[in-house]
Amino acid sequence: MSPEEFAAINGRQAWANWRTIPRCLSGNVPDRRLLVVDLGCGAGDSTAVLAFWCPAGSRVIGYELSAPLAAVASRRRYRHRTGATVDTAIIVQGVGGELRDAAGRPLAAGSVDLVHSSGLVGHHLTRSTVGPLVQELARVVSRGGHAFLDVGPTLGDGELTACMREAGFQRLCRKRSFRFDPTGEVVFVHGAAEAPGAPERVQLVYGDLLSQPVEGIVNAWNRNVLPWWLLLPQGVSGAIKRAAGTAPFRELVAKGAIPLGGAVHTGAGCLPFRALIHVAAIDLTWRASAQSIADSVTSAMRLAERLGLSSVALPVLGSGSGGYPADEALGLILDTLERLDSPVRAVVVRHLPGGPG
Ligand SMILES: C[S@@+](CC[C@H](N)C(=O)[O-])C[C@H]1O[C@@H](n2cnc3c(N)ncnc32)[C@H](O)[C@@H]1O
Repeated sequence: MSPEEFAAINGRQAWANWRTIPRCLSGNVPDRRLLVVDLGCGAGDSTAVLAFWCPAGSRVIGYELSAPLAAVASRRRYRHRTGATVDTAIIVQGVGGELRDAAGRPLAAGSVDLVHSSGLVGHHLTRSTVGPLVQELARVVSRGGHAFLDVGPTLGDGELTACMREAGFQRLCRKRSFRFDPTGEVVFVHGAAEAPGAPERVQLVYGDLLSQPVEGIVNAWNRNVLPWWLLLPQGVSGAIKRAAGTAPFRELVAKGAIPLGGAVHTGAGCLPFRALIHVAAIDLTWRASAQSIADSVTSAMRLAERLGLSSVALPVLGSGSGGYPADEALGLILDTLERLDSPVRAVVVRHLPGGPG
């Protein structure tokens, strides 16, 4: 693709960079000179935003697979918001092997403060091809350093987060160009985000919702307008009903209709929890939306606070009968939990085949 063709199709990404990158930087990176790497820098649109917003004195190295695009990026002058010229280098290199400097030497281990990608990781890589890049990030990013990596159609938030966790990164948040942007960038920090030994406030685990060591669990319920005995037990609620017995569901009937995105609690029946929190993440046509999922998470956590629970486990709401893509729903749930800043510890449980819902 020629640089002109690239410029014609990269407009949306170039616009999104100006909204997403400063949101990722804000409150996350220290205010000192940084060594910044821009993976898949294209014609330098993302490099220009990094150069503008990163702390004064930072150096930015862009990596680009396409030589013609790298040539365009190399010819540009990059300015900091103070007007100062920013020290940059553009290197023609694909991601997936050792990242090298302009002289061809591997970047030193732990030397990079921030790695950025937009339009690359979630748009060109997959769960099976991202591994070597993640290993390289674990090598070059300093402890406490950050990675802002885009998610999108080829690699979603949940899968990327799982790979990054295995390599020693913690997910901090996800920033988007607008509220329901299906892409955006996930912010990771290298190393433990919490004091050693302290459990993370928001955790993602793979397994069985009903086996979590927490005080309450969230049931992916509905508007509660149909008698429960008319509903076929399925997914999470089916598993809860089988293990808890019918008592919590009889109690639930007495609570009446639940507003979309709302939450009510009942006892846990035979399950070993202090409470079940039932949320209505799906509407009367059995569909979930970004809004209904985010509102359900907020309602469940606020209710858990009022009940004095110290911890709750949540399934990937909206992704079963609600039909919302599981990876997107997971990202949305993690985002909402991170924004809430609740004292209640939240464990998001992605089910394993053979487990509930
Ligand atoms: C959508 S563009 C985004 C460019 C730039 N980050 C921006 O925001 O304007 C994605 C870029 O990633 C580059 N790319 C794709 N696969 C790559 C790889 N394996 N290694 C390095 N660059 C790659 C493409 O050539 C393209 O320039």
